[in-house]
Amino acid sequence: MNTLRSESQQRERIPTEIHDSSESASRELAAYIAGRIRQRAAEGRSFVLGLATGSTPVRLYRELVRLHREEGLSFSNVITFNLDEYHGLGRTHPESYWRFMHEQLFNHIDVPADQVNIPDGLVARGDVFAWCRAYEERIAAAGGIDLQVLGIGRTGHIGFNEPGSGRDSRTRIVTLDALTRRDAARDFLGESNVPRYAITMGVGTILDARELVMLAWGEAKAEVTALAVEGPVSDSLPASFLQLHAKVRVLVDRAAASGLTRLRTPWLVGPVEWTPALARRSVTWLSQVTGRPLLKLLDSHYGEHGMAELLTEQGPAYHLNIRIFNETQHTITGWPGGKPNADDTHRPERALPHPKRVLVLAPEPSDEMLGMGGTIARLASQGHQVSVVYMSSGNLAVPDTEAAAAAELLMSFSEKDGPAQYARTRAVWQKLMAQDGEEGAAPAAANEQELRRLKGLIRRGEARSALRTLGLPTEAATFLGLPFYEKGRYRQFRPGLEDFEMLRALLVRHQPHQVFVTGADQDPSSLGALCFDLFRKVLADLKGEAWLEQCRVWLYRTPDKRWAPHEIDMAVPLSPDQLAQKVQAIYQHRSQRSQSPSRGELHSEEWLQAEQAARELAKAYDALGLAEYEAIEAFSRWKG
Ligand code: F6R
Repeated sequence: MNTLRSESQQRERIPTEIHDSSESASRELAAYIAGRIRQRAAEGRSFVLGLATGSTPVRLYRELVRLHREEGLSFSNVITFNLDEYHGLGRTHPESYWRFMHEQLFNHIDVPADQVNIPDGLVARGDVFAWCRAYEERIAAAGGIDLQVLGIGRTGHIGFNEPGSGRDSRTRIVTLDALTRRDAARDFLGESNVPRYAITMGVGTILDARELVMLAWGEAKAEVTALAVEGPVSDSLPASFLQLHAKVRVLVDRAAASGLTRLRTPWLVGPVEWTPALARRSVTWLSQVTGRPLLKLLDSHYGEHGMAELLTEQGPAYHLNIRIFNETQHTITGWPGGKPNADDTHRPERALPHPKRVLVLAPEPSDEMLGMGGTIARLASQGHQVSVVYMSSGNLAVPDTEAAAAAELLMSFSEKDGPAQYARTRAVWQKLMAQDGEEGAAPAAANEQELRRLKGLIRRGEARSALRTLGLPTEAATFLGLPFYEKGRYRQFRPGLEDFEMLRALLVRHQPHQVFVTGADQDPSSLGALCFDLFRKVLADLKGEAWLEQCRVWLYRTPDKRWAPHEIDMAVPLSPDQLAQKVQAIYQHRSQRSQSPSRGELHSEEWLQAEQAARELAKAYDALGLAEYEAIEAFSRWKG
């Protein structure tokens, strides 16, 4: 943790503490909150706590529950105010913030129900204004908020104060930003189910709290957090208003901190130790900011961009340029499993053994295609034994419309000769029909086992079809179906021992030479991050096994989170045909296509994003002065 306001933090306008993990940050904050609550209790006074929902505070709430259960922390003197609620959702809707708060926190602690305040999602439109004023009055009557916990959205929102929200805005109804709705699409089982409006405390309401703590985890929050902390105060990024508060701090994990100047370009804010990795990062950055290829950088460019020290230590520019050019050049290979009978001194992967046993782990079907479809095709065509392991069934991401179509197909198929199956399928179908069109209804009976089984089967079929598109046999697919996914919902999954054992057994059975895995640095409560964490724990447990010593782990990313060139250890170029094949494979995941393209949501289609990401990476390599490819898929080697 780093609270010191040092030279390297000179650009940070909000005190920012970087923690090793979201767990340690959440524990620290929970202990702090507990201290404040106890202090007030000792004085016979109440403590007014402002709360947020979403994935970010989940670990904080777990820790508060633990403190209550195991360390006797009482919440009887606590009054809570939540930031926001979707408009149009009743309390029992699976995605209502009322339900979220009760499931995550209130049901497990002793806060009296009449001291809990959450905006009411069902206030009639005409009554919203008066209702919001009353909410503000309730906050004032409680003595104002002592401490407000905040998350940050990728639009820079706090609460649901989207860009454009003014410094003095108060509790009100707002329209959700398109990006915010897209981010919530998973939870609502489709973007079109996400409400368009929400009731939120205003920026002014938030700034009135006596103390603010904003939390951010995972790489997806890095850019927006850096802007909020280091950028100008502006209503185009409402979180930047926090800079105006006298008592505010931001807690981040390493991934969310990675956009801050002290981590992204530390040479600009003080002396650094010029490790080989930092030299590569800074020279690549220099090429990008000057718009010049690596081999055309001059000493003067280094000098003008805070890198004179690097020149003195490792220069002149001519040598540095060539060194970094070669390092980057050596990341490129058309042989992701290693090239047999070739000198592999400067290749990212070993030549031997050949062929290799390759495991590709996908948190849910289609992740592997988005991140590395072209590479999978290459590995298979180069003779390696490729197994794609789908860790979860992915059934939560199948819209009801797809399930209804499949149920109808199954019904007509089994009508004559499978009466029992027919009856079961018909029951599922009837439920789907009954909820169709119900305003504010939960989009799917998410816990209905038979429905989820059907949706899981849809995804299996799509995954097999995608593998076939790449020329792989259907047997290349293993559907692990980890149980934690079947028992949970997005943002609320909790992998356990059973999941650990299943993944462990799989790895022991395969004894792979190469594993491709994703999810490192993602939001810790996301499916990808949980799957990665499970994998990490299994590897730690297997440490010392002879086969594991010989196994290399490669990280891939899905297009929502792209590699910067300096992070890449292996770059696999794709020809135009190979790129087209990859896109075709992604396209097989029919159930994942946008449900309402007519509303201008087509740009969010995954295959388009994947294609664009691979093309852009090729352009980035080209701009560095390397060969010009159509597209590139990239990997970073995980060193554990
Ligand atoms: C939730 C809220 C939002 C979230 C933000 C981040 O009450 O007010 O501002 O904090 O959207 O959401 P997650 O934590 O899910 O990434």
